[in-house]
Amino acid sequence: MKKVDVCLSPDLMHLYKTDDRTVVVVDILRATSCMTTAFAYGIQSITPFASLEDCRAMKSKGYFTSGERDGKKVEGFDLGNSPFEYMAEKLQGQKIAFTTTNGTQAIAKSMDAKEIVIGSFLNLSAVAKHIRQCQNDVLIVCAGWKGRFNLEDTLFAGALIESLRNEIELECDAPQACVHLYKLAKSNMIEFLKEASHVKRLANLNIFEDIKFCLTIDKYDVLPVLKGSKFEV
Ligand code: MLT
Repeated sequence: MKKVDVCLSPDLMHLYKTDDRTVVVVDILRATSCMTTAFAYGIQSITPFASLEDCRAMKSKGYFTSGERDGKKVEGFDLGNSPFEYMAEKLQGQKIAFTTTNGTQAIAKSMDAKEIVIGSFLNLSAVAKHIRQCQNDVLIVCAGWKGRFNLEDTLFAGALIESLRNEIELECDAPQACVHLYKLAKSNMIEFLKEASHVKRLANLNIFEDIKFCLTIDKYDVLPVLKGSKFEV
C-alpha cells in the first residue's frame, strides 16, 4: 500500500528522503492557493524562486513578476499574493515568476523529490486523484511560517489523507495528528482558524476575503506539476 507522511515544516525536510516520492507542497494562505487559481484561469507556467532578486530578474525575460514578503506585495512586482489577482484576463497564456515568504521556500527545499505537485483546498480532489493514480509514496510538505508549524497547511494535509483513507498507509504520527485536527476543524474551518497566526497577520493587513476563498474545497480541477524548473498543468 502507498505510504503517506507529512513534513510539518520545511525546516524538517532533512528528516525525509524524497527522491522516490511525490511531494505535495502546500501553503494554503496563500501561495499554493494562488498558483492553483492562476492555472484555473489559464496561466501558461509558474516558475518558483526562493530569492526575491532572482525572481525580479525574470521581468526582463518577459515574465510577470509576482509574490510577497511578509504578506505584502513586493515593490516593483506586477502582482501580489491574493488569488483574486490571478483571475485577470491579461494573464492568460502568460509566464509568471513567483516568490513568497514560505511557499516557494518549501518548493526549493523539495527539489530532490521525484515529483512535485501543488496542493490547496481549491484543488483537493485533483491532488487526491493524482495520488491514487501514481505509483510513488507521498510526502505532504507544509510550508508553515518561517520554519514554524501552522494550522491551515496541517488541516489541508488532514483533509487529503482523510480523502484517501483505506487506500494509504500512514507513516509516523504526523499524518495521524493532521487527520485528528482536520476532523475537529472541518465543520467550520474559518471559525477553527480565527486565532491562527497567519489569519491574524493577514487580518492586520486588512486581508479577509482571501482567507475564505483559500478554504473553499474543490473549486478547481487543476493539478500544477513541476516540469523542469517551472510548474505547468
Ligand atoms: C507565503 O508563502 O508565506 C504566503 O503565501 C504568505 C502570504 O499569505 O502572502
